[in-house]
Amino acid sequence: MDIVNVTGPLPPQGHNPEGLWLVGCGNMAGAMVEGWRSAATDLSQAVAIRPSGTPVPGVRTVRTVAKAGPPPGIALLGFKPQKLPEVAPELAAAIGGETIVLSMLAGVEVETLRQRLPAAAAIVRVMPNTPVAIRRGVIAVFGEALDQAQRTRVGSLLAPLGYVAWCGSEAELGTIGHVAGSGPAYVARFIAALAAAGEGKGLDPGLALTIARETVLGTAWLAAAGGEPMAEIARRVTSPDGTTQAGLVVLDGELPGLIERVVAAAGRRSAELAADARAIDSSPAHP
Ligand SMILES: NC(=O)c1ccc[n+]([C@@H]2O[C@H](COP(=O)([O-])OP(=O)(O)OC[C@H]3O[C@@H](n4cnc5c(N)ncnc54)[C@H](OP(=O)(O)O)[C@@H]3O)[C@@H](O)[C@H]2O)c1
Repeated sequence: MDIVNVTGPLPPQGHNPEGLWLVGCGNMAGAMVEGWRSAATDLSQAVAIRPSGTPVPGVRTVRTVAKAGPPPGIALLGFKPQKLPEVAPELAAAIGGETIVLSMLAGVEVETLRQRLPAAAAIVRVMPNTPVAIRRGVIAVFGEALDQAQRTRVGSLLAPLGYVAWCGSEAELGTIGHVAGSGPAYVARFIAALAAAGEGKGLDPGLALTIARETVLGTAWLAAAGGEPMAEIARRVTSPDGTTQAGLVVLDGELPGLIERVVAAAGRRSAELAADARAIDSSPAHP
């Protein structure tokens, strides 16, 4: 006798422990895919789910969760936080009890995700930055009560993409996001400002940009290779009463306070987004 489930969606069939769903694969998840591809990570079990159907190079791409196949070992959420109410119902019905949900939704807390996706084996938040595309990313990770196997599974997926920072709290993950997740935008602005200053002093624009970019890259590389304190790296190019010293007097008067305000502003916006996500959950319209 055929058994037909007439009361709701059919339960997920089977389970693919090696499976990886990329639920939304735009800029950030796309950058992670680039990193995995350049690390020769096996993506044969990965499926990108994007409503536009825009192909993701090297990854099977479908438009809907329903077409993605059996529940995967890991479902990486890569859509915008505002899309959670729209995506969650279908996803909640499709993932299995062995699926680890890896969410990169900025500001959306574990508790909110747990309410939306109650069947998930574990909820893990990640906060990557865009240099994951070249395997030099920073990826903050926080998981609720992960067992060792889950931690190893998540860690080995992320390790090819750069520096993985396991966090002890969501607050720590948030702060790393405000420093490293947003950081490429701040560093890009610094490079552009250094280049503009050179251009303002008569340098060719292309040359000014190249030397500003290479200076930041070279200094970061020097710091990473030698492990010296930043103060020492600065001291080695600063003669007492010399030209760099004159520049630093101006910079040191402004930069620390400015960057502190920048990071604080990102933190305030993140708190607003988290409050919005919680408000949607507790609204009467939400079942
Ligand atoms: N950008 C960053 O530096 C950064 C850093 C850390 C975390 N994040 C987080 O990463 C997430 C994505 O940001 P992004 O900059 O990559 O955004 P994005 O480029 O706009 O990509 C969003 C993706 O979501 C997909 N999408 C839209 N509606 C969907 C639905 N109903 N079901 C499934 N997928 C859907 C889009 O599909 P189509 O491709 O078909 O349009 C697209 O692939 C956000 O939650 C953000 O907070 C971003």
